[in-house]
Amino acid sequence: MVDSNNDNLFAQPVIQSPFQFDDKVAAVFPDMIKRSVPGYSHVLHNIQLLASRFIQPNSKCYDLGCSLGAVCLAMSYGNHRSGVEIIGVDNSSAMIEQCQNNIDSFKHTTPITLLSDDISQITCENASMVVLNYTLQFIDPSLRIQLLKSIFDAMLPGGILVISEKLIFRDANINKLMIDLHHQFKRENGYSELEISQKRNALENVLVPETMEAQLKRLQDIGFDQVSCWNQQLNFASFIAVKS
Ligand SMILES: C[S@@+](CC[C@H](N)C(=O)[O-])C[C@H]1O[C@@H](n2cnc3c(N)ncnc32)[C@H](O)[C@@H]1O
Repeated sequence: MVDSNNDNLFAQPVIQSPFQFDDKVAAVFPDMIKRSVPGYSHVLHNIQLLASRFIQPNSKCYDLGCSLGAVCLAMSYGNHRSGVEIIGVDNSSAMIEQCQNNIDSFKHTTPITLLSDDISQITCENASMVVLNYTLQFIDPSLRIQLLKSIFDAMLPGGILVISEKLIFRDANINKLMIDLHHQFKRENGYSELEISQKRNALENVLVPETMEAQLKRLQDIGFDQVSCWNQQLNFASFIAVKS
């Protein structure tokens, strides 16, 4: 039986066009991200734990590129402070619409507001926690530094930024090995060779990964005092950056 929420968007030959977060992707997104991103559930669980440690009373928390709101909900579950508002932002109207349904159907105590907007155009403020979970990689590389600087300026002392990204590696052999292992991960999760190669082509120039070294250096250059990679599974990593 075919489940309509299963990701089979690339199962048949498609006319190649750039990947978009449209209504078809929104409909299958939870299945797609779980079967495509190694460690996704682990990262979400730890975002909840980080939220319980870092969210400050009377502050704001941002989930930038919120898709269906998994990080908004993780921060809400982790938060035990009062006066906190969680703001989820995404520029895909299909995602925001479905996200609102999700937020409404899951019990949570911290208020969550959703904005349909471009994250490089909004102004954050009074932030104790900001999360870019697999979103920065979709932003034009020339705009990333400005976006991260504006997030840094909006953050309170003691606030935390979490960034999860796909990586590339400077060593060509390691890079190839990681890509091969990631494709193996996708095969083991039921994707065919055709699905893997068509998705890869669709993401070309849409998802632009960087090295771990570039990610860490940029965060340090911006002024974050404590910067670390806290999780890596194959070519996917998650970073934390704390502002003193
Ligand atoms: C891989 S998904 C993020 C997954 C989500 N954070 C999670 O943990 O489930 C990337 C999201 O970023 C959004 N996005 C990409 N570029 C954006 C931009 N410039 N402004 C706002 N959202 C953007 C996409 O619409 C998509 O929903």
